[in-house]
Amino acid sequence: MNQIDVSFKLNGQWVQVSVQPGTLLIDLLRDDLGLTGAKAGCREGECGACTVLLDGEPVNSCLVPAIKVSGRDVVTIEGLASETAGLDPIQESFMLEGASQRVFCTPAMILNARALLNRLPDPDESEIKLALSGVLCRCTGYRKIVQAVKTAAKMRGSRP
Ligand code: FES
Repeated sequence: MNQIDVSFKLNGQWVQVSVQPGTLLIDLLRDDLGLTGAKAGCREGECGACTVLLDGEPVNSCLVPAIKVSGRDVVTIEGLASETAGLDPIQESFMLEGASQRVFCTPAMILNARALLNRLPDPDESEIKLALSGVLCRCTGYRKIVQAVKTAAKMRGSRP
């Protein structure tokens, strides 16, 4: 089958790749580009483990054809920290609050939290729970995760 060239911004850098028409974004990221932070869970849009940010909004990358990201901005968990600024405040707060006990859902939780705080810098608990509701967590529950998002909001507020 003919490959299609796709160029898009990935974690701040433009990349160009050739993909099969049916390739999904989750597979492009994990298999071709070596970014394994987004997890392949249900592959049906149910668990949220495959979350990435597409133009700043969380999406299930298992439902997004890779060709649909052409010209757009994709951020994975690998792109959240920067060499100059260090960890994102949400990554720091997840460690502080002990909210990152499970590797499988944590990247998706953090990306959903980042999108929320970009939109609402000081969300209340119900807004946090709603923003995280698309990601299933079967281990620790959401209490520490919600607290981590609150802490991140405060940390961000204390920065210049
Ligand atoms: S793997 Fe995409 S939602 Fe479950």
